[in-house]
Amino acid sequence: MTNFSDRDRRVLEIYDRLVEVEERLIPTGLHVFGQPSQGKERADLLRMIVSFDRPDAKSHSLPALVAEGLGFDKSVATSSAAPTSEVDLSQRELVATIVNDAIRAFLNDGSEAALAELNSKANVDVDIARPAFALLEKVSSQLATNSEIESLQRALRGEFIQPGPGADIVQNPSILPTGRNTHAINPYAVPSDAAFARSEEVANRLLDRYREEHGKYPRAMALVLWGLDNIKTQGEGVAQALWLLGVRPVRDGLNRVTQVAPIPLEELKRPRIDVVMTVSGIFRDLFSPTVELLDKAVRMVAQLEEPVEMNFVRRNVLEQMSEGEAAFDDAVVRVFSNAPGNYGTNVNFMVMDSQWQSESTLGDLFVTRKCFAYGRDSSGRSIEGREARQAMDRALSLVEATYQNIDTFEIGITDVDHYFEYLGGVSKAVEQRAQSRPAIYLSDSLSRDTKIRTLEETVQLETRAKTLNPKWYEGMLQHGFRGVAEIENHVSNTFGWSATADAVDDWIYDDVAKTFLLDDEMLDRLRSLNPHSAHALVSRLLEANSRGYWETDSEKLNQLREIAGELEDRLEGVA
Ligand code: BEZ
Ligand code: MG
Repeated sequence: MTNFSDRDRRVLEIYDRLVEVEERLIPTGLHVFGQPSQGKERADLLRMIVSFDRPDAKSHSLPALVAEGLGFDKSVATSSAAPTSEVDLSQRELVATIVNDAIRAFLNDGSEAALAELNSKANVDVDIARPAFALLEKVSSQLATNSEIESLQRALRGEFIQPGPGADIVQNPSILPTGRNTHAINPYAVPSDAAFARSEEVANRLLDRYREEHGKYPRAMALVLWGLDNIKTQGEGVAQALWLLGVRPVRDGLNRVTQVAPIPLEELKRPRIDVVMTVSGIFRDLFSPTVELLDKAVRMVAQLEEPVEMNFVRRNVLEQMSEGEAAFDDAVVRVFSNAPGNYGTNVNFMVMDSQWQSESTLGDLFVTRKCFAYGRDSSGRSIEGREARQAMDRALSLVEATYQNIDTFEIGITDVDHYFEYLGGVSKAVEQRAQSRPAIYLSDSLSRDTKIRTLEETVQLETRAKTLNPKWYEGMLQHGFRGVAEIENHVSNTFGWSATADAVDDWIYDDVAKTFLLDDEMLDRLRSLNPHSAHALVSRLLEANSRGYWETDSEKLNQLREIAGELEDRLEGVA
């Protein structure tokens, strides 16, 4: 029988999940080009920006200052673990309320009013909190102006547009004002010291999670590395790969990261994990020295004189060589991308167009597009984009877990089709080649402390936070035609996770049908705003059923078929 404390703990866990969903949804609605952010959206952004310590602005996390001022443990404000007691919970709620009230006071009456309120309600030292409000004043005034249309006009006239850093606004508010060009970063600066330091914990948590579920370390992992993400995070994805291999970046006399050094096993205290890296075409183009660095790291690790049970790269390479399958240079390639000049996996297009018979087509397409090796062979010759299909097949056949880092608050795995084309694509390719579905993980390094989630957990979270959340879809529907298209996109991207990884529960499709199509009033709205997307939505659900990803009752299916037929008639002008 469940005792009270078990029940209480479960209630707290559910509370934590709800907060997680709530936090995930920000901001709501689409950005309208040329329009400054306002109202609730601006307040949400400001609150998130001051939730972090920002040493460059000498600004302290406001929730942490409030918690401290109230005499609470600082973890109340900084931990994203589930609350452990009712006291913990009520303290967290109090901190959140006071911070929200302070942001409201700031927006209504200015910094001094907000500081006075924080001081009287939570004994926050006004001088210590002031830099946070100086930052908010700057960000708030930048959010209130918008020169996107003017910049676009300048671009069309062929005039200079000032560049700025590219990043998530919460991670790096200095991306403001918007309407600028995004500048890249010096690839030799990657990974930055900060990115490398932050990534140790991510890599450890990733391995902990795998071990919890499988009782051992993964022999090999496949990682997806994107260019823009590594620009925005100064190379967090790169740093995570280096940590898994157990090496650290080394800077040369010009402060360029051009070498790696092994972290001694006594220090690492775990085996080195073999890592297969599939990098985007953009990454290959922007981070050419980094591609070489990653390749160099794998080759170096493979040659360390270490016991194979502590060095999985060496173990895998030696095994392939001893089985006579491959020479060292073929057994050791781990950095794969498109052929030179090519981009993307096309897995997304194939899924979206419903142009595939069996799932193996999707995994094979991924490998066909991505089987080009990059780096240098043992004699120092560049292997720039050499086709290496067999080597990729072999490397993927050893993979037990796949992983990608999400680096932004704004875009998740059902917002765009690129996550399933890459992470889904590589996972499907592994499943066929390893004869076993890999464990699939995502992390977001954007929360206060990093969380590792399985793909299934992430799909559920995104579905609850966005697709099925009235706040999200009503926000979208305010954008009329485009909003319906966004809803349909989300459902199709979710379907992409069925096709590539069978990671979508029946309840998700059930609830999508119930919310958008089997509700007459909602169906009417979608139909009149955008009958094309409404038709695509119902077709996608029927496809999910016909491909075996969604089991449901025949009555519901008949209703959906009827709706599809009626929409077709309407689109063809028959009805
Ligand atoms: C990239 O930055 O590498 C990237 C961007 C969009 C889709 C896929 C990759
Ligand atoms: Mg299923």
